[in-house]
Amino acid sequence: MDIISIEDLSREFILKICKRASQIDEAEQRKERYNLRTKHPRKLATLFFEPSTRTQQSFKAAITELGGLHEGFSGTDTTSVSKKESIRDTIKMFEAFHFDAIVMRHKKDGSVQWAADVAKVPVINGGDGENEHPTQALLDLYTIYKQNKGSLDNVHIGLGGDLAHGRTVHSLSLALSKFKETTIYWSTEYELGMPEYLIKKLQSLGTKVIRKPSVAEVMKHVSVYYMTRPQLERMQGLLVDKIPALIEKYRIDMKKIEDLNGVILHPLPVNSELAEIEPDVFFSKKQGFYGQAENGVFVRKALLYTLLDETPHTSFDPHLSENLHTGNNRLQRNPGNHKTNMVVDTIDNGLVIDHLKKGKELFVADALQLVHKGYDRVLASISTKKTAFLKTNLPDISEREIRQVCLISPEPTISIIRDGKVIDKYVPLVCDNPNCITRDVFEDIPAKFYDDHGSICCRYCKHPYTIRSHKVSRDDQERYIKTLPEH
Ligand code: CP
Repeated sequence: MDIISIEDLSREFILKICKRASQIDEAEQRKERYNLRTKHPRKLATLFFEPSTRTQQSFKAAITELGGLHEGFSGTDTTSVSKKESIRDTIKMFEAFHFDAIVMRHKKDGSVQWAADVAKVPVINGGDGENEHPTQALLDLYTIYKQNKGSLDNVHIGLGGDLAHGRTVHSLSLALSKFKETTIYWSTEYELGMPEYLIKKLQSLGTKVIRKPSVAEVMKHVSVYYMTRPQLERMQGLLVDKIPALIEKYRIDMKKIEDLNGVILHPLPVNSELAEIEPDVFFSKKQGFYGQAENGVFVRKALLYTLLDETPHTSFDPHLSENLHTGNNRLQRNPGNHKTNMVVDTIDNGLVIDHLKKGKELFVADALQLVHKGYDRVLASISTKKTAFLKTNLPDISEREIRQVCLISPEPTISIIRDGKVIDKYVPLVCDNPNCITRDVFEDIPAKFYDDHGSICCRYCKHPYTIRSHKVSRDDQERYIKTLPEH
């Protein structure tokens, strides 16, 4: 079993972890820290591509207390990731060295789902980009469960700080939506507010989401106020400049918590420079976040015990699964829905790549290395004021090449020509989200989509796909163009 998204965990599983964490918590109070052991000593790989204090160290404490071992890295400078080793190969190596489970954090959305697709051992998401942090959600739930006398129903919670970029609030709000009578209050500006898609999703799950005019107003209605830090590392320049003024308004101070009949939680770290929580609050009886952090050890111990105690050791398989090689990003490939007999000028066998953004056709030709491969019949032409197309005698195009094309000009139409006729035509799907792991062409991950109640969503970052809504960032383009071979 992998722990990738809180959405995958049932209400029953969450309550089982809370109950087990509670037993571990009580044993700790009785000073019986090492009384719970897995049947066999287990090895946990801690792969932190991004910095972490709590998640990393509490997993290490948890596996040690269960009688196991841990190895891994924190930052990639001393690993072969700095020599451009992929996530896939890094994961395979930790399997080859007989680790029983992997906990991983990475800056790209969906990266840990990809690691889980590669690995045969359980993979736990320690935070993937802006996407999810399910074990943080579990420890937050356990903290609320304790506060709420052993129940997760009827929780009234306030969310504050950076609700736009913070993965912990996304996971926590989705998790609470599995329980009865959840009400979420928030009050931040829309730049830092709850994403619209998330509000809709929570409402569709029966959760009430209420926006109040001020933090003080929110405090009157909740027993838990969950503050978060501004996620500066995930913001663009202009927003970063506005953050000090925004935080001034939302900072938690003694005055704002006067009407709170409950506790302030925070996943931590607090940014000591911006100080989204005033120092006085740290010393208040309403401060609940240090205890919340300790709960992280109880919950992660409960989780590792549940995942590892009964499962047998997994033998290493050095072969890669065929499934890792193929995606469904030709999902819209539809041979029945186009004029296959259409005759194409100036080309007998090859490809027509159409609906490119104006001026991008030569970048695409470079990306496909057409000249380099000797496919020199590149006829580029700007067909309208906005779009361009490219004809080439390259016989076919791979999934990886499709992603390269989409990175330069999203949503091209690709026609395959044989004997002067279109024999196949498709519009490739590439995830909309620029931070999705599938958008990193060097990781070579086949894009996969699933149908979530009528909307097509990315298997990895879960973002819904919206036709013709791609935005390719300048960074993406420049990064790609810089790596083009010189010829
Ligand atoms: N709460 C949390 O994820 O903290 P770290 O970033 O220190 O792991």
